[in-house]
Amino acid sequence: MQRLRMHIGGEFVEGVRKGWLPVIDPSTEDTFAEVPAGTAEDVDRAARAARSAFDSGDWPATTAQDRGRLLFKLADRIRAEAPRLAELEARNCGKPIVEAEFDINDTATCFEYYGGLATKVLGHVNPVPDNALSLSLREPVGVAGQIIPWNYPLLMAAWKLAPALAAGCTCVLKPAEQTPLTALELATFFEAVGFPPGVINIVTGDGEGAGAPIVTHPSIDKVAFTGSAAVGKIILRNAADSIKRVTLELGGKSPNIFFADADFEAAIDGALFGVFINQGEVCSAGSRILVEKPIYSKFVEALAAKTKTIRLGAPLDRETKMGPVVSAEQYERVREYQEIGKREARLVAGGGRAEGFKKGFYVQPTIFADVDNSTRIAREEVFGPVAAVIPFEGEANAIRIANDTPYGLAAAVWSRDIFRVMRVVKAVRAGIVWVNHMQPTYVEAPWGGYKQSGFGRELGPWGIEEYLETKQVHINLNEQPIGWY
Ligand code: NAI
Ligand code: MG
Repeated sequence: MQRLRMHIGGEFVEGVRKGWLPVIDPSTEDTFAEVPAGTAEDVDRAARAARSAFDSGDWPATTAQDRGRLLFKLADRIRAEAPRLAELEARNCGKPIVEAEFDINDTATCFEYYGGLATKVLGHVNPVPDNALSLSLREPVGVAGQIIPWNYPLLMAAWKLAPALAAGCTCVLKPAEQTPLTALELATFFEAVGFPPGVINIVTGDGEGAGAPIVTHPSIDKVAFTGSAAVGKIILRNAADSIKRVTLELGGKSPNIFFADADFEAAIDGALFGVFINQGEVCSAGSRILVEKPIYSKFVEALAAKTKTIRLGAPLDRETKMGPVVSAEQYERVREYQEIGKREARLVAGGGRAEGFKKGFYVQPTIFADVDNSTRIAREEVFGPVAAVIPFEGEANAIRIANDTPYGLAAAVWSRDIFRVMRVVKAVRAGIVWVNHMQPTYVEAPWGGYKQSGFGRELGPWGIEEYLETKQVHINLNEQPIGWY
């Protein structure tokens, strides 16, 4: 059994308390590594290391060019090690290797994007009316605490670390307890490519043990979180005492809306890709499939038929289209929603444990039809391969159902009528709206939610904004300063 260590102050270390957490292969249920069960003491060590790297040492002296070059070097290492990282990611999460390869490529691209953006952070000259030069300077927010989920482990680490480092922050990042392996692998590159010790720290551990202390630590200035809405609410409350800056990305129950004039074959594929990619463990999963009445029966039939042909298998098999879900806990959760759905709606595909697997957290991709939007299967995030198909009549009805959710992360609309498409795009309350496809995500474009899907934006120039403060500088140009005493 491999025992890994966390990365604090440029060194790989065990936890102060010496506890360990198992890392489980979701396709075999075997424990294939252990990582330290980090505690408040470890978070404190990491936060001190990050603080002192921010306040003194080599990091404050780096130029934007230096930081950009370091991010490019990190991206190069990721590209050089991509096959190994993809395999590790696929094994740890259970996701198909083909999808993991995309994730690793996107991870490197994210570091490259922010490597380039580091030198494009600009200040302002403000047009104040007196004889003065008024400037707005952009400065790093300080030490960033970053808490990430298990569905895209290395990519989520990149979404957090890359903009923070480009801005000049230092970081304490906690990967999800289920999937710490690729983040720890990434840590072997940090000082090797030239990041000063303490700039990037990786603390392993679970939410209560290592996540909660990040949110309350006095040396941490900002918390960035991706995960469940329930934990997002706890984080917001716990961040209040130290007035931390907070950004939250909390998932959703995103509508994927199909009008009768949409290309039928493309629509079926788009509905399946929208909800089943990455085993449905996607914050923007199109888990509510809204279908216009004239095509409804035909749509449900075709969707169910194709769902039954989806090939489940071992994550490392290149033919696999869907792997196991990430953990026993998530398996139980998905199984429970399959049963809830059976009581609330009409099961047309799946509905149970996947057949043919003795071990592993394999669930059948599942479709419920005739779902009423007021039921649990339509309102609660499953975070697994379970879709709720909801019929609608006309545009106004589609918009009403689409917006009848506490969430607002994403939506998609399928139609060949550009006027209708644009009316729906404007009416839907969501941070991302796709048209005639669903899920493609690029580092150049903003990502984040409306409503209870959180606040703040990641990616693009928006992503770096969340790690910057604005300092006003007012330089008097008169011989005499303004005053009357
Ligand atoms: P979670 O929200 O508990 O975990 C996400 C991260 O937060 C992990 O790193 C975890 O250790 C940390 N965390 C947990 N409790 C914390 C606390 N009190 N303070 C600070 N950090 C804490 O998600 P979980 O339990 O793994 O999954 C439950 C559900 O959450 C899923 O079924 C899904 O609906 C949703 N989820 C949404 C995600 C998204 O991308 N929006 C990602 C993961 C889960
Ligand atoms: Mg949890």
